[in-house]
Amino acid sequence: MRWLPVLALLGCAESEPAPAETKRAIASTNTAHEAGKKLFFSKCASCHMVNKELTGPALKGVQQRWPDRQKLYAFIRNSDSVIQVDSYAKNLWLQYNQTAMTPHPDLTDEQIGQILNYIASVSE
Ligand code: HEC
Repeated sequence: MRWLPVLALLGCAESEPAPAETKRAIASTNTAHEAGKKLFFSKCASCHMVNKELTGPALKGVQQRWPDRQKLYAFIRNSDSVIQVDSYAKNLWLQYNQTAMTPHPDLTDEQIGQILNYIASVSE
């Protein structure tokens, strides 16, 4: 009697192509992807595209250009604070005619991660 639920589960996993666990993982990835895409289009897309230069640089491969993740996150929250101390950021700012990027102090690490993951997914 105690084994019946287990057997039922095993039977289920056998007949279904994706077990519930995998389905949940895919669903949460999709949710994060959607959140990143939404944030990108509401807060960044007025100046950035992934594969094409706009007011700001094309963001394809941006994580490789910023080996220091902390700095990248800080730049997205408040670019000015990083431009003052980092020569790569300062040169970029000079190159883009000293156009200030809108500060986004309200973005959490998780949200910035979602935006960057969305950008990476478009680049591929
Ligand atoms: C008002 C226009 C504007 C908005 C909005 C904007 N950016 Fe920018 N961004 C720029 C400009 C211009 C630069 C080039 C550096 C500079 O001028 O400070 C830049 C540079 C960057 C860089 C560095 C690019 C590189 O090649 O190293 C990243 C990363 C970045 N932006 C991410 C974002 C994200 C993420 C958002 C949305 C949350 C965003 N930006 C919103 C204008 C903008």
